[in-house]
Amino acid sequence: MGIKAIKGTRDIFGINIKKWRYVEDRIFNYAKRYNYSEIRLPTFESTELFSRGIGDATDIVNKEMYSFKDKGDRNITLRPEGTASVVRAYIENKMYIDKGVRKLFYIGSIFRQERPQKGRFREFYQFGIENIGSLFPIADAEVISFAYNLYKGLGLKSIKVELNSIGCRKCRVEYIKALKNYLEPNLNDLCSNCKERYNTNPLRILDCKNKICKDIIENAPTTVEYICDECKKHFDKLIAYLNILKIPFIINGKLVRGLDYYTKTVFEITSDRLGSQNAIAAGGRYDYLIGMFHSDEIPAVGFAGGIDRLILLMEEEGLFDGFKEDVPDVFVVSVGDDSKSRAIEVVSELRSRGYSVDIDFMRRSIKSQLRKADKLGIKNILIIGHEEIQKGIIIYKNMKKHFQKEIDINNYDEIDKIME
Ligand code: HAM
Repeated sequence: MGIKAIKGTRDIFGINIKKWRYVEDRIFNYAKRYNYSEIRLPTFESTELFSRGIGDATDIVNKEMYSFKDKGDRNITLRPEGTASVVRAYIENKMYIDKGVRKLFYIGSIFRQERPQKGRFREFYQFGIENIGSLFPIADAEVISFAYNLYKGLGLKSIKVELNSIGCRKCRVEYIKALKNYLEPNLNDLCSNCKERYNTNPLRILDCKNKICKDIIENAPTTVEYICDECKKHFDKLIAYLNILKIPFIINGKLVRGLDYYTKTVFEITSDRLGSQNAIAAGGRYDYLIGMFHSDEIPAVGFAGGIDRLILLMEEEGLFDGFKEDVPDVFVVSVGDDSKSRAIEVVSELRSRGYSVDIDFMRRSIKSQLRKADKLGIKNILIIGHEEIQKGIIIYKNMKKHFQKEIDINNYDEIDKIME
């Protein structure tokens, strides 16, 4: 077949889907523990939501969005992240009405047209939480603790929490001035992207992967040196909470994010076992984003984790060793028309009792059905042939303990009891 999956997308199946389910179950479990309620969001939204929300000068908006016009000539974008959609839903559904904090959780696919490589896909999966309504650092601490404890609980050993404060709209101005002053003498040596960023989005220069730019910013001023008293108090309190929660972290004064909406707290969770795409989760506070689409400014903080990278890292750390594909509890072997008819009745009864059951669909011989069941590692076999029907029995065969027993064909309670 000439048609292939689009570059940067893939099919997830077999043993991999078991890993995904396992991880997703844990994520849902943590959402419940931390009392975040799920929200299902549309996969596509108005382009304007993202261009205004994430920022016109960001790489995501400029280079990576899958945008198109639909047949009604509307500008549509496949979501390149979840936060802007949560904010839209929060405002549109008037979730601010009770003035309290709204704690929302989401999971789903995200689309970015980046260059595919290990840990970087064009359609990938994120889960995320958004804590909306609180100005206070206790909300930041909860968000970081959710991420850290989930990953620790999954058994990850190599993760590192990096933390920074990029200040508010007041102190950011001072910092940007200082950064530009520092960069000015080397402006001509910056890469072409950063030359442009110098005017449009100078903070992003701190995140450039180009070797020359990296060398230039080595001694650049850090954001934490420039934050105002209020931001400093917020940051110090957050640090105190993280210490109480025994969450280890390092302060990286040059940590900035690829989305423009952040204020005060930003953080990333990384691992050095993932290569260049080393962030498994990231987030921070965004106190002005809701105000961009709504009459009131409502503070918020959240994070999103990449599921694809999380699974890669868990594989890397050996956390799926011994994982096997699910096999049915029972395989019902049958040959010939009358025994097939009886077999589907048995299968149906066992399924209604909650067992996972399978049967042959290929008219294979008894021998080859048994071989197949054995190869799959199925422990319990029930055999119904012509002779068994005549005798009113079914043969139970235990493939692990190598014994078999005849059971009255209608005695499901005995089948229940003998099954492993
Ligand atoms: P982000 O840092 O753009 O933040 O993405 C969060 C996570 O998604 C990353 O740490 C990474 O694990 C994963 N990720 C990003 N791009 C890719 C890719 N191309 N392939 C595979 N995984 C990827 C956000 O999206 C913000 N909305 C986070 C947030 C929530 N901030 C506040 N609330």
